[in-house]
Amino acid sequence: MPTGPRHLVSIADLDATEIVKILDHGDRYWALADEPIKKLTSLRGRTVMIVMFENSTRTRTSFELAAKRLSAEAINISASASSTSKGESLLDTGRNLEAMHPDCVVVRHAYGGAAALLARTARCAIINAGDGQHEHPTQALLDAATIRRHKGSIEGLEIAIVGDISHSRVARSNILCLAKLGARIRVVAPWTLIPRGIELIGGDVTRERVTICPRLEDGLEGADVVMMLRVQHERFAGEAPRFPNTRELSRTFGLSERTLAYAKPDAIVMHPGPINRGVEVSPQVADGPRAVILQQVSWGVAIRMAVLERAILGDES
Ligand code: NCD
Repeated sequence: MPTGPRHLVSIADLDATEIVKILDHGDRYWALADEPIKKLTSLRGRTVMIVMFENSTRTRTSFELAAKRLSAEAINISASASSTSKGESLLDTGRNLEAMHPDCVVVRHAYGGAAALLARTARCAIINAGDGQHEHPTQALLDAATIRRHKGSIEGLEIAIVGDISHSRVARSNILCLAKLGARIRVVAPWTLIPRGIELIGGDVTRERVTICPRLEDGLEGADVVMMLRVQHERFAGEAPRFPNTRELSRTFGLSERTLAYAKPDAIVMHPGPINRGVEVSPQVADGPRAVILQQVSWGVAIRMAVLERAILGDES
């Protein structure tokens, strides 16, 4: 019995079973990248619209590649080429796109809640590719897939998420996802970059599993996974300064070979990109043997294939 379209707006909407199902589904596509012919046919004749109201390199490309590897038609729309710059509302843009009968709309928008707003009335599946500072669910899923690949299981791992937590949708989705999968999470940043109540975003699940560490060395001590985040300067407009300057932040919260030594000897280093080399992570670490940053990008395609199939085919996928 087909279940029809399924939105993916937020990790908060998924339980652990559903998350593991998507990760297992993505596992099926990991090895496809090594095949000479990478094309499958499950979404033949389907249409995926990828609508980016904010800049994107990895997310847009990997959604497009994922759609094409499943034989769907993928159409890219960027904000500068769309009618929002002429004053059209998000809902009107959504209604007009839907009038062309896509099977799925992937949307990135600066407004937290944009994907949820579209999903309220959409007949096709809506996938959130990042909404403001709120969530970036497919990033968290590909991060979980990468961690699973290296560590076997996520349950019981000590995971440090370091950097500009305040402005990061990646941090919020990862905290929810990793806590649901049983990890313990250290949120590592100066107090001014930690949103008040962050440990409560997932209710009891996160309250019991999230610790705040305002000192880098404490946050890294014995960690299995170190996830670094960029300072998202584009979201600081109109705010009072949160730290003296980038050089000082880099000196106190940057990941170098010296600070990485606090983590477990087999700890992996992650980053969602784009990296600011020499700011949040040194080039030696970013290019070193512990970094799995480019594998995260590879997982992005496999996980987004799974997410597109789930969205369009529902339980048939
Ligand atoms: C992130 C984003 O856009 O939220 N990047 C990504 O999707 N890989 C993080 C960032 O921009 O720093």
